[in-house]
Amino acid sequence: MRVELLGLAARHPAAGAGAPPALQPLTLSIAPGEQIAVIGPSGAGKTTLLHALACALKPSAGTLQLDGIDPWSLPVRELQRLRGHLFLAPQTPPLPPRQRVITALLAARLPAQSLWASLRSLVYPSDIGAAHAALMRFDLAHKLWERVDRLSGGERQRIGLARGLLAPASLWLVDEPLSALDPTRARQAVDTLIQVAAERGATLVTTLHQVDVATRFPRVVGLRDGLLAFDLPGAQVTREHLAQLYVQHEHELTGAAPAPEAAPPARPAPLVCR
Ligand SMILES: Nc1ncnc2c1ncn2[C@@H]1O[C@H](COP(=O)(O)OP(=O)(O)OP(=O)(O)O)[C@@H](O)[C@H]1O
Ligand SMILES: [Mg+2]
Repeated sequence: MRVELLGLAARHPAAGAGAPPALQPLTLSIAPGEQIAVIGPSGAGKTTLLHALACALKPSAGTLQLDGIDPWSLPVRELQRLRGHLFLAPQTPPLPPRQRVITALLAARLPAQSLWASLRSLVYPSDIGAAHAALMRFDLAHKLWERVDRLSGGERQRIGLARGLLAPASLWLVDEPLSALDPTRARQAVDTLIQVAAERGATLVTTLHQVDVATRFPRVVGLRDGLLAFDLPGAQVTREHLAQLYVQHEHELTGAAPAPEAAPPARPAPLVCR
């Protein structure tokens, strides 16, 4: 899916009237199949950006275009249909606790199914093979019939990601997929996401706090205070860029940063865009 943001700003309905928009006017062009990591300190607007892309938050200014269509100009039914092509994985996946893993996984297909097929799948899981294959990619095949509330936080997080493999989506929006994972699992999970998104030609936008993982992405977008700080190929993000992005939030800078080019600056430098 092609994504275009044209001066898109977003404001949370519950935010105070005097508060600045969580996302300041942002112009970005994302080609079909591109893979992007979004980084920045807490409160930078990363989740807000994902929600705007998922059509879960209406822009307060500017426009969003998905494959050339402004979703907010569509009738409600068509907007719902479009949402079926988007997969949003929240940081804490909303998995009903008493549900079995297989049911939670196959629920990812509900937006694209008829009501009858959805109801039948809740009682008689329809595509056990696909659910098993998705779990295998996250090393969780043995949990297929387990109840969700008997999983660890990291396992639940990986189930949330495995749902993406079953969703018929061409835009994957993944929020902090690694927060409950150890470094090895985190690396594996990101490699799987990148690999499967590439196999399917899906566009992948993921927010991350681990800068060493983020800089392995082909493109890294840095956000700070709702503003674009940089938009660069992962290999070109230096320790300097990161120091500027996280200035006064250094404790949030996790993971090994790339080698320095120069001494970190004392205060934020001008914006860098590609
Ligand atoms: N539901 C909400 N209602 C009002 N304001 C909100 C809401 N969610 C987020 N905000 C505000 O919007 C701004 C951006 O928040 P956002 O969640 O996008 O940041 P983030 O970069 O994802 O941070 P984190 O790394 O902590 O997840 C923050 O100032 C936050 O307080
Ligand atoms: Mg967030």
